[in-house]
Amino acid sequence: MHFSRLIQDSLVLGLGLASLAAAMPKQIVARQSTWNPPSNLVTPLQQVWDHEVATYSNALGFKNYGYDQVMANGGYLNFCVRWDSSQNLSEAQRAQILTALQRSMKKWIDWLVGFDGFPYSSVPVNIVGYAVKSTSQLQGSTSGYDVYTTKDSGGIPECDPRCGRFFHQDGNYGSCPGGAARHYDQSLWLTDGFSGGAGGDWGQRIGTEYFLGAINSENIHILLHEMGHTFALDDFYDWTPTGVSNFIMLAGSSTVITDFDGWMMRDWWRHLKSRYNLSTPTSTTTTSRTTTAASTTRTTTPATTTTAVRTTTTTTTTRATTTGSSGGSPLYGQCGGTNWTGPTTCAQGTCTYSNAWYSQCL
Ligand SMILES: *[C@@H]1O[C@H](CO)[C@@H](O)[C@H](O)[C@H]1NC(C)=O
Ligand SMILES: *[C@@H]1O[C@H](CO)[C@@H](O)[C@H](O)[C@H]1NC(C)=O
Ligand SMILES: *[C@@H]1O[C@H](CO)[C@@H](O)[C@H](O)[C@H]1NC(C)=O
Repeated sequence: MHFSRLIQDSLVLGLGLASLAAAMPKQIVARQSTWNPPSNLVTPLQQVWDHEVATYSNALGFKNYGYDQVMANGGYLNFCVRWDSSQNLSEAQRAQILTALQRSMKKWIDWLVGFDGFPYSSVPVNIVGYAVKSTSQLQGSTSGYDVYTTKDSGGIPECDPRCGRFFHQDGNYGSCPGGAARHYDQSLWLTDGFSGGAGGDWGQRIGTEYFLGAINSENIHILLHEMGHTFALDDFYDWTPTGVSNFIMLAGSSTVITDFDGWMMRDWWRHLKSRYNLSTPTSTTTTSRTTTAASTTRTTTPATTTTAVRTTTTTTTTRATTTGSSGGSPLYGQCGGTNWTGPTTCAQGTCTYSNAWYSQCL
């Protein structure tokens, strides 16, 4: 059973970001190679970690976080774009989409570079495929892309499951027509009229209109937030850690990844890294931070055939499912999906289809 962590961030767009005080990017003065967060962040970081471990159903056993994907590949990430839209896409727009993904992913990865044994100085991002309603939507040359017109069970364009990491968490892409080199780790799922966003190990879903409107922005904040979920970071709908009130994972409170977000990510890395059998000690790691744009050349490094046991439990956030509501799943709770045995009605919200594996109360 490979349920993904999927969180709907319907609040993101609802808040007035212009009024936020902490929207200015903070200068990262010096990268630290060991766990040594600023003193004012120590307590809230511990609160977040304890909360995540207590509320995720298998926090330290799940094996498809963004970290796992980067490490399985040997230091890169492949995307497939689900173009769930009636619009056409020009070559120039597709180049912008790639640049936006690279710029956004780098903002997270830079928090790992040089930290505690993370072995890469950059993590190139490439787009290997597009799933569209009609091939005529992709104007110009589609060389370098696998183009899919297949749909998932909900009728939404879907990249070939045979090539998707979500469907092959053992890293075996033997059934992918292009082999491991053409696999994708995450989907960027762009949907007409979709507000807010959703993110998980499977990728990120945001609205077409929002994304295209923000595509050249330095900080595409909803995308950044959803990418945070891909790296195991939680939402903060029902509580706020002590002393921190503006950070990208607190939806609507920041348009940039803050120090607190970065240290929350590092907390995951330091707790997960033992599973990668890294050999070198951390303190001598060079902290050269390359600013080179991620290469658009697809690496042909095959995915490692790790023997990691795929977890059979979900990491869907279940924080609210313990509330003793009389009938149905709580707001943001799961209410359907393949093999889902829980409630299929919602105590609050409407059960909304996301994909074959997941419906959610929104
Ligand atoms: C659902 O359950 C059936 C029967 O146990 C199993 O064969 C199938 O793989 C499961 N599907 C998913 C998506 O986990
Ligand atoms: C998309 O492109 C096709 C083929 O070039 C064209 O026929 C169609 O009118 C375009 N659609 C839109 C919405 O621009
Ligand atoms: C790490 O080492 C353990 C023990 O030798 C082994 O079982 C595991 O498969 C290794 N993991 C990876 C990712 O190489």
